Parts: sequence; structure tokens; C-alpha cells
Amino acid sequence: DWTMAGYRDEAIRKIREQVGDRKVICGLSGGVDSSVAAVLIHEAVGDQLTCVFVDHGLLRLNEAEEVVTMFRDTYNIPLIHADESELFLGSLEGVSDPEVKRKTIGRLFIDVFQKYASQIEGADFLAQGTLYPDVIESVSFSGGPSVTIKSHHNVGGLPEKMGLKLVEPLRELFKDEVRALGRELGLPEKFIGRHPFPGPGLAIRCPGEITREKLDILRKADAVFIDQIRRHGLYDDIWQAFVAILPVRTVGVMGDGRTYDYACALRAVTSVDGMTADYYPFTHDFLGETATRIINEVKGINRCTYDITSKPPGTIEWE
Ligand code: XMP
Repeated sequence: DWTMAGYRDEAIRKIREQVGDRKVICGLSGGVDSSVAAVLIHEAVGDQLTCVFVDHGLLRLNEAEEVVTMFRDTYNIPLIHADESELFLGSLEGVSDPEVKRKTIGRLFIDVFQKYASQIEGADFLAQGTLYPDVIESVSFSGGPSVTIKSHHNVGGLPEKMGLKLVEPLRELFKDEVRALGRELGLPEKFIGRHPFPGPGLAIRCPGEITREKLDILRKADAVFIDQIRRHGLYDDIWQAFVAILPVRTVGVMGDGRTYDYACALRAVTSVDGMTADYYPFTHDFLGETATRIINEVKGINRCTYDITSKPPGTIEWE
């Protein structure tokens, strides 16, 4: 009989066999996939594993601290926190094209990862939380040619460049199976059930030019939206939910003054695998209450819209 406990034991056995007494480096993103891979590999080979967490300054509110605390303190996994937000945000100055954003972040990510990983002596292996759907990277439309719609950044090409062999213990799994494996490994439920978060992070939720000011506003608005969704018990019914800060300021009134602040869009979708998606049918009460909270609680936003586009023709992210 196939069980997740059996899968875990078998995966641990295979990792031990592949790695032997050599060292492994794992890039942590803070997401479920790389976290499950890291905890699994840590169970298999203990402190032969070192994690490198590249902090590009495009994470959500308190996210970096949460990742560091969880891995260092809860799991005692050796972790290098590569805080390189200055480098990333500096390089993104003046960049507004979505693909240039992705490429810039992807290139820096590889440089930074390589810089920190090269400090770990004697490492032979690079661990990645690659899933089965990542293996089939491109999307194909019926009848049409296979096209990659957005260039996803991963550490492609890096293993060869660094002379490392890959450890990819999740390669055969779909997202729901990775979550089940994470539960089997005792990762907290709140963490396992987290919505997927893209590698380029908030950069692609800030259409147009990225500034620290916009990022700070976006983080606060996003936290309020997610809090609303959790309070109403809707989090687990939704595939992904987030706020995008729009590159436009609009006029509003607050008290007896005029405001001229950013508009934002709320995005929430249901999906099975992210390839297609429907917008989430919130009640008007929920939407009204959320807009009121965001505008009252987040300085810098005075208008809130709800994105009712499904995928296709829209994409889940705004860029
Ligand atoms: P779209 O916006 O293409 O998103 O409908 C589908 C899923 O992919 C995620 N996504 C990304 N993930 N790098 C990533 O690692 C990216 O560049 C990227 N772009 C989109 C998105 O969050 C959704 O889950």
C-alpha cells in the first residue's frame, strides 16, 4: 500500500544513498516546496545540509524573519540569511518591464546564491524543491505551439556552473502531495497551507517602477487583505490572494481634506494547478469591509478595486 509515510522513508533512503557523506546546499525561498525539500533532506543527512535564503527585499510583511526563525530556531537547520535587498532594489531602479524585472532578479539571484554557496566548503550537491509541474515548464494551448508565457526564475544552469549535482526529492510530486509530505514531516499546518508565492515576489505585484515606498505600502495592504481572508475563514478555499499596488494615483476625500494616493487591486483566485483560474466570488460585504480597512489602515492608498478577471485570458499575477 502506498502511504506518504512510506514515500518519506523511501525519499530519505534515496537521499542518503545519493549524498553519502558529502555536503548539500539548499536554496530556501520561504515557500512550501523548498521548505519541505530542506526539512526532508535535513532528516536524511542532518547538518551535512546548509540552507541559503536569498532575501531580495521583495518579500511580504515579516516574511524574512519568519523563515529565519523557523529554520534556525525550530528546526536547527544551518541557515545563511543573505540579506541582499539593497543590491536587488538598486538594480531594479527604473525598471518597469515585467520580463526585465524577472531577468534582473533571476540573474542577481544566481550571482548572490553562488557567492554565498561558494563559502560552504566541500559541497557537492544542490537541493531544489522542483515539482512535477515545474518539470513540464511550458504551457501549451490547444492546437498551438508550446509557449512559455512568463520566464520563471529558478536556479537553472547554476548546478553545472558550480559543478554541483542536483538533489530534487520532490520531482515526482504535485503540490497537494508536497503539502501532504510536509505534514508527514511535522511542518506547521499554517505554513503548509500557505498560498504559492512567486520567485520575483512583490516585484510583479507592483506594475511599473518599483520603489521602496510602494513596496512598504503594498506589504501593509497585502497583510490587511490576508488578515480579512483568514478572519472570514476563506483562506483555504483560495489558491492565491494578494494585493497589487497600481502605478496610478487617484483623488479621494478623507475628513475635510483631499487625498492623492495610490490605487490598489485585490486579487484572489481558485485554481487546481495555477494553469487556469477563476476569480473568487467574495460577497459585496466582504469586499466593502476590506476596502474600508485597507484605506483606513494603510497610509498611501485611497482607492481599492477587485480584479474579476479569470485565467485565461488574464494571468493570476498582474505581470
Ligand atoms: P500566472 O500569473 O502566470 O501565474 O497566471 C501562475 C502561477 O505562477 C506564479 N508565477 C511565478 N512563479 N516565478 C515564479 O516562481 C515567476 O516569475 C512567476 N510568475 C508567476 C504565480 O504566482 C501563480 O502561482
